[in-house]
Amino acid sequence: MKRANSPTRLTITQPDDWHVHVRDGEMLEAVAGYTARQFGRAIIMPNLAEPITTVAAAKNYRDRILAAVPKNSIHADFTPLMTCYLTDTIAAGEVERGFKSGVFTACKLYPANATTNSSHGVTDIENISDVLEVMQGLGMPLLVHGEVTDAAIDIFDREAVFIERVMKKIIADFPALKIVFEHITTKDAVDFVLASSANIAATITPHHLVYNRTAIFKGGINPHLYCLPIAKREVHRLALRAAATSGSPKFFLGTDSAPHAVTAKQSACGCAGVFNAPYAIESYAQTFAQENALDKLEGFASMFGPRFYGLAKNKRKIVLERRDVAVPKSIDIVDTHIVPFHAGETLKWKFCGALD
Ligand code: NCD
Ligand code: ZN
Repeated sequence: MKRANSPTRLTITQPDDWHVHVRDGEMLEAVAGYTARQFGRAIIMPNLAEPITTVAAAKNYRDRILAAVPKNSIHADFTPLMTCYLTDTIAAGEVERGFKSGVFTACKLYPANATTNSSHGVTDIENISDVLEVMQGLGMPLLVHGEVTDAAIDIFDREAVFIERVMKKIIADFPALKIVFEHITTKDAVDFVLASSANIAATITPHHLVYNRTAIFKGGINPHLYCLPIAKREVHRLALRAAATSGSPKFFLGTDSAPHAVTAKQSACGCAGVFNAPYAIESYAQTFAQENALDKLEGFASMFGPRFYGLAKNKRKIVLERRDVAVPKSIDIVDTHIVPFHAGETLKWKFCGALD
């Protein structure tokens, strides 16, 4: 007997990706289309080799992204939403000008040296208190990479310690500031977000819903599962799955798709980042189906993000069908290739495009 909650075809409002890295140059040319074919909008991470810290740089980057999106109907209407990379010396006036002129949608806080291209990040949140004050007044979201960088803290504890040492302080000082706790990986973060007021939300990636830290070492070290924040114990993965499929508007889609050339991943010191953009919505759909919660997918993927950001939901609809999708082992990019998330696997839900 077919379960009521087990459809074979799903039509939902087009989703948005509230956290993605599309890079620059040839990599941007190669990856932009993957995000644009599934998502109506995407929050673009500003951690280029030269970070996006000015309105002018964000405008130029937005133009390069739009130029890199293929010009056909499946990519129509894609809107990159730009973010400003916070540094110790960023001027509050630049942030305000960028937000008021519609160029910056949000600001990104990277603790200095927490992850890829974060060396220009913030060394102490006291250094950006004037910026946070202005953002709070504007209703401009702060997007947080929530890991402490203290070398004495075990890598698997960095998110939980960040909540205690940094997140609680930001919220105490700026109680009305809109904050997105990005790519959460722990039950601690789920519980913290749930216990916080409505202006605190979180994004959850496809990959943190799928594997735990043990999988990274299954049969040998798997560099393509290495990302930051690193996947945690199974108890945390289960908490993330429960949160994503709960129907709570505090949790919404953010892929953290972070492409790196295969040589940068399969190396003595491999880069952090999972490239999940090509099959992102399929991966989420499979997770929601496994949780018998496909009726909750549209809220998570298409409703709660825009609601939090104060934007309208997308007008278009997309169609997903319960059909096998073979994920390629690698995707060619210029003179190299990238190993995507789910490489070589068969996913059970297929993205069939947008309805116009
Ligand atoms: C991201 C990247 O490669 O830019 N890597 C990652 O593991 N997620 C940076 C980030 O979001 O931490
Ligand atoms: Zn990221």
